[in-house]
Amino acid sequence: MKQIVYITRKLPEEVVAPLREKFTVRMWEEEEIVVPEEILKEEAKSAHALWTTITDQITREVMEGAPNLKVVSNFAVGFNNIDIQAAKELGITVTNTPNVLTETTADLAFALLLASGRRITEAEAMLRGGKWTSWSPMQLTGMDVFGATLGIIGMGRIGEAVAKRARGFEMNILYYNRTRKMDTEEMYGYEYVDLDNLLKRADFVLILAPLTEKTKNLIAKRELSLMKKTAVLVNASRGGIVNEQDLYEALKAGEIWSAGLDVFETEPVSVNHPLLTLPNVTALPHIGSASIQTRLAMMKLNERAIGDVLEGRVPNHIVV
Ligand code: NAP
Ligand code: GLV
Repeated sequence: MKQIVYITRKLPEEVVAPLREKFTVRMWEEEEIVVPEEILKEEAKSAHALWTTITDQITREVMEGAPNLKVVSNFAVGFNNIDIQAAKELGITVTNTPNVLTETTADLAFALLLASGRRITEAEAMLRGGKWTSWSPMQLTGMDVFGATLGIIGMGRIGEAVAKRARGFEMNILYYNRTRKMDTEEMYGYEYVDLDNLLKRADFVLILAPLTEKTKNLIAKRELSLMKKTAVLVNASRGGIVNEQDLYEALKAGEIWSAGLDVFETEPVSVNHPLLTLPNVTALPHIGSASIQTRLAMMKLNERAIGDVLEGRVPNHIVV
């Protein structure tokens, strides 16, 4: 009997083909619709491998109901959608897709920073909406990026890749992590500061830490109140890290200047979400790693990891 791989989203056939040669592959045949929880649980009952996306909640219940399950390979670097502790206890390997998406996500994070600082989507909406009646001296004026201070919360792989771009804009770079990176500090002159100091000093605050118990609501009313009135907040990591109600109130009251958000607490975000009613919010539908090359490279990592675990080899990029 061949081992069973269940893929929770329709993927290109050429990516899946190597797995089909060795295993029975089943796939949720929808590109835009998340596999319903009941179907996921039913498929997991017989699966040896699950190839998941960030939209699937891989709970203890799902894994306890999957007696054959050896590996969950997540199509993302973030893995907050998986109960890692449960996987560990149950002896299930979890893998993710780091590195291959670093530069692509850094590009997007920097694009969001530029767009939020320079009001790019707001300006385009005005033009397309037929509201551009005249050029005027202070129309759509924004915040300078060149030479500004950037505070990165979560100076990991993507954080460092953004910092590399920011050096080209001669930005001063502050960062906050749980651990200092002395070598990069010395090499590039980055300054390690505590969170409060970062929030007080940065013109642009960029979140790139993972969503964990510790980072949930890391940026809420108190933290927003520390930021400059002219500051821009960019979240390219996970929605739950910023308290959205508090962010809405701070933006509406002018306590901070603008926000760029690639991620939301609940995705897909509703068009009626209060944050989307604000002109000083630039919003994107979680497209950080969305280039053709990168998404295919991520899939390759998942495909290899699944093959490795099912054939008894140690895969790359083990989370647990
Ligand atoms: P990474 O290399 O692991 O970097 C994460 C950084 O966050 C590390 O430097 C880590 O340093 C820091 N960190 C962890 N917990 C922290 C805490 N409690 N407080 C402050 N800093 C903390 O991961 P990465 O590859 O750069 O990816 C980062 C995140 O980006 C992912 O987890 C994912 O959520 C998000 N992401 C989003 C997209 C998108 O489409 N928008 C795409 C890719 C990734 P310490 O351990 O020293 O604290
Ligand atoms: C995307 O959000 C990822 O974590 O890769």
